[in-house]
Amino acid sequence: MEYIWNITGRCNLSCEYCWDRFKLENEMPTEAALILIDQLATEGCETIIFTGGEPLIRKDFFNIVSHASQKGIKNLKICTNGLLIKKRIHDLVDSAITEIHISLDDTINTKFRNNIDILKENIRLLVERVNLESCKIVLVSVLDMEAIERFENVVEFAESLGIKSSFQFPSLLKHRTLSEYAVSNYKEDKTREIIEKLNKLYSKYTGTLDFFSKFYIDKSQKFYLEGIKPQLCGAGKQFKVISPSGELWDCYHKKQRKSDDIDSCFSEQCLIWTRSDNRAKRIINLINAKQG
Ligand SMILES: C[S@@+](CC[C@H](N)C(=O)[O-])C[C@H]1O[C@@H](n2cnc3c(N)ncnc32)[C@H](O)[C@@H]1O
Repeated sequence: MEYIWNITGRCNLSCEYCWDRFKLENEMPTEAALILIDQLATEGCETIIFTGGEPLIRKDFFNIVSHASQKGIKNLKICTNGLLIKKRIHDLVDSAITEIHISLDDTINTKFRNNIDILKENIRLLVERVNLESCKIVLVSVLDMEAIERFENVVEFAESLGIKSSFQFPSLLKHRTLSEYAVSNYKEDKTREIIEKLNKLYSKYTGTLDFFSKFYIDKSQKFYLEGIKPQLCGAGKQFKVISPSGELWDCYHKKQRKSDDIDSCFSEQCLIWTRSDNRAKRIINLINAKQG
């Protein structure tokens, strides 16, 4: 079970496409966060993914991480926009964090995030300082339909630093201009082109491309999931979501979603999470086999 903990709703960026549904929620004070960690540890939790909002904005973030580690939680991952890395580098390097996902998004298209030079500098600093044996670094980009030619820049950048890269499909969020834009451009041909491009990149950079972290599904775009549909949705079983105030959600879209029937789960807003390398590789192989 992975716990995806939206540890704060606050962020130093305001990306229009962001799916963060907990933006306005009050976050738990330190004390309550530590108690929650105790409970998770008692339940046998082995993995927490800290996200948000921007986790590094929380002053007590590393106290929380350190407590989780002391309680025996082995895999402590963070999703960050990377802009506060320099400021928090000492704490980060000394921390028990085992995986750092840095959202580049904008490296492939600077119209979304415009701090790429600072970000690249921060990534280089991190790579220099962090022990890559005990802490994996992954550069994550949301696929922008217009930027297909530039995906390779991200993979090359990651490879030049000896770290991983990964791409994820944008999730449709209603009433959000930019994701509406992203998804409305997300036509079947384009999707196929992107998958083919990613497959080629995957063959070329097998060691660098990590996984497609999320597959977006909607009813009209099921074609690329034929034959790769998992039997069960992981919501509530493989992962749970914790909101900033400490509420437990089975998935990002429904607080309680206990159905084992994956068809009843799929909605226009549903995501399949394919976080593990092995699962992703299996999916890539299946897509490749399908494409003949
Ligand atoms: C919501 S952010 C929060 C953590 C941190 N502030 C960051 O930027 O990584 C977590 C991840 O979700 C991704 N994300 C945000 N909105 C998305 C969307 N509509 N579709 C797909 N991924 C999205 C971001 O790019 C980022 O990689």
